Amino acid sequence: MALEGKHVLICISGGIAAYKITLLVRMLVKSGAEVQVLMTPAAENFVSKLTLSTLSKRAVYSDFYGADGTWNNHVEFALWADAILVAPCTANTLAKMVHGICDNLVIATYMSAKSPVFIAPAMDLDMYRHPSTKQNLEMAEDFGHFIIPAEIGELASGLVGEGRMAEPEAILEKLHDYFGEAEKDKSLSGKTVLITAGPTYEALDPVRFIGNHSSGKMGFSLAEEAAKRGAKVILISGPSAQTAHHQNIEIHRVMSAKEMYAEVFRNYDRVDIAIASAAVADYAPKEIATEKIKKNDDSLTVELVKNPDILKTMGEKKTHQFLVGFALETQNEAENAKGKLKNKNLDMIVLNSLRDEGAGFQQDTNKIRIFTKNEEKSFLLKSKREVAKDILNFVEEQISK
Ligand code: C5P
Repeated sequence: MALEGKHVLICISGGIAAYKITLLVRMLVKSGAEVQVLMTPAAENFVSKLTLSTLSKRAVYSDFYGADGTWNNHVEFALWADAILVAPCTANTLAKMVHGICDNLVIATYMSAKSPVFIAPAMDLDMYRHPSTKQNLEMAEDFGHFIIPAEIGELASGLVGEGRMAEPEAILEKLHDYFGEAEKDKSLSGKTVLITAGPTYEALDPVRFIGNHSSGKMGFSLAEEAAKRGAKVILISGPSAQTAHHQNIEIHRVMSAKEMYAEVFRNYDRVDIAIASAAVADYAPKEIATEKIKKNDDSLTVELVKNPDILKTMGEKKTHQFLVGFALETQNEAENAKGKLKNKNLDMIVLNSLRDEGAGFQQDTNKIRIFTKNEEKSFLLKSKREVAKDILNFVEEQISK
């Protein structure tokens, strides 16, 4: 019953596979979903509005304005949707989506979207193979959209190959699985989770900084997983190439440790769980040169001063928060981690050792040990996504005690 009552907004673009959407609309309505269809002007050549509006039981729109001069509000359509499906998605519509070429109602609605976006591409095989299509699909994936890949089969051109839109049954299954998954694991709903992630950059002059190799992957994986579990996530990240798309994640980008400190304590009172996974620079230059430092001398001395310890201050200011820290150690790992647990007044600490292959900075995997005051648990080497699940499972066990 995952689709019962769900608002599915279908955007049809101008490909021959548009006729198959009539079947999909029928199946979605039968599954209990409410369906709103929008079309690009070109799609009207392939399938009739009358068929689609009869099946969806709603008027179908393809223009910003109605014949009577009324405005078809794209923002309202976007906000109404629990999921947006662009199918068939032509090379042209895909390109407009990823480059923000907002010249029709479908693209304007897509660009106002707050809900997840599913894309079912459909095009002739050479267009599907073209580097621009490949790149655009990769970009769409980077935006966090779900691609429902085209299938191999006979194409309208008579050619046989990859490019045929996924069958309506396959698209229905994807939507069904998404909503099923979304309903399943809501173990953190009602909770607010603050996560620090990434490195910090400490400016030396207008062009240079002191930083570290943290990629932010661990913190972003934690944020995604907590959001999936229904938490509201405040993700405070230093400079990192990672992106977060879940609608439960509010992302605050900062540069330096001082900025991270300020942002953390702007939010700290209202959080239930705080996880400090950022690799915060311990020191920052005492002075930031206003002009670029010239290489006149053979040596350069920069005086560094200690940065605030954000996590330690969180420990001192703790009232009701469940506080989790990270320790990246190279020697006496367990001892040092336990020391930090106590000194920083934490409820839990996650240890990763640089001695373990596959653990630590810039890796997609991590191998952790978790310590609380009375417990200790070791985990195997896993992807950072899986590690995020282990960490949050442990947190949930602790807060339910
Ligand atoms: O003391 P150490 O830097 O090893 O502690 C690591 C933990 O403390 C991590 O959770 C890190 O995010 C946090 N930390 C912090 N602010 C600092 C230094 C570390 O929040 N200035």
